[in-house]
Amino acid sequence: MNKISVLFVCLGNICRSPTAHAVFQSMVDAKGLNEQILVDSAGTGDWHLGHAPDGRTSAQAAERGYDMADLRARLVGPEDFDQFDYIIGMDHENISNLVLIRPAGYKGHLGLFLDYSLNPQYSSQDVVPDPYYGGEHGFALVLDLVEDASAGLLDHIAAQL
Ligand code: 4NP
Repeated sequence: MNKISVLFVCLGNICRSPTAHAVFQSMVDAKGLNEQILVDSAGTGDWHLGHAPDGRTSAQAAERGYDMADLRARLVGPEDFDQFDYIIGMDHENISNLVLIRPAGYKGHLGLFLDYSLNPQYSSQDVVPDPYYGGEHGFALVLDLVEDASAGLLDHIAAQL
């Protein structure tokens, strides 16, 4: 049986990509696919290595029933391209940084998360905006965008299993 691996990447790995990690994992679990789909997250910046998700992120996620207690920030590296079939960036800067470390010959999929959005309400939005220096609304928007794109990505991957 195929096993498909997905790595979500943002800048700090304390707001957007851990949100994607927790939301996507919960959808994978709900569909009983956790033996077939591996989920992880990482950041391109090293300021928060080993830290738990930002408290604003985990508080809003908890309101919607997502648990981030076990997540810790780590750095993405070239070796991740050996392991992950899908490497999913939150914004264009994430993708540029990933392209810089992508080994020649990577056969997986490197792209923007919102390419998998389903809701037409978000069709004008191509990135998950960095909420770190903004207010609460930005964190709620991250969750809205991540829930929608996670459903789309899971449909896309489940169709290959
Ligand atoms: P993230 O948000 O990339 O969604 O985890 C950020 C977290 C921290 C910083 C920037 C963005 N920072 O500059 O420390």
